Amino acid sequence: EAKAYFSRELLIWYRRIKRDLPWRMNQDPYRVWVSEIMLQQTRVDTVIPYYERFMSKFPTVRALAEAPEPEVLKCWEGLGYYSRARNLQAGAREVVERYDGVVPDDKASVAGLKGVGPYTTGAIMSIAFNRPEPAVDGNVMRVLSRYFCLEEDIAKPATRVGIEKLAASLIPEGAAGDFNQALMELGALVCTPKSPSCLPCPVMEHCAARIAGRETELPIKTKA
Ligand code: ADE
Repeated sequence: EAKAYFSRELLIWYRRIKRDLPWRMNQDPYRVWVSEIMLQQTRVDTVIPYYERFMSKFPTVRALAEAPEPEVLKCWEGLGYYSRARNLQAGAREVVERYDGVVPDDKASVAGLKGVGPYTTGAIMSIAFNRPEPAVDGNVMRVLSRYFCLEEDIAKPATRVGIEKLAASLIPEGAAGDFNQALMELGALVCTPKSPSCLPCPVMEHCAARIAGRETELPIKTKA
């Protein structure tokens, strides 16, 4: 069936082709957290050198919490969206004060941290703790809209909620982190916004949009 096929083939593909990215070195939740905040509005290739520098300067939650804010902002220079850096440090200070410097393995606690929205919560819970939580961003909405030929407007909050439920139902047992990263990787490398490369796609056989010849029409998004 199309869902089981998707989950199985995507995971196999990811484990074969996944890139050796610095935040994939281990599952340290702090490392995952920093990477996901940087990757929110910035491309992987741009993020890598900033990430390496940031992690050597602030290797732990405590190091980041105790740093003077201007040093954190200086390290962020060039990445833009500085509120991300300020919120990240505020979140690190919350982790030190409330959780003794240990990122909690608990969805509600993670979701309560400054600067951590539903996407980042899902990414941390799944990648760092392997919890079966969806991590749905624009890439994932595009991939799933195409594969299942969903016509709902992805700008609508209700569509995101529906796609989150669908994404959760696709997570293979015990492989949440890899599966969520596989979805991101497919969206970034194969199922791209403008001209998706269906030939190398591991799930093209059952992709409803491709079968209907509609892959470039989806997803539907009204407001920018
Ligand atoms: N984009 C967002 N999160 C990512 C991750 N963990 N790996 C690669 N690209 C990403």
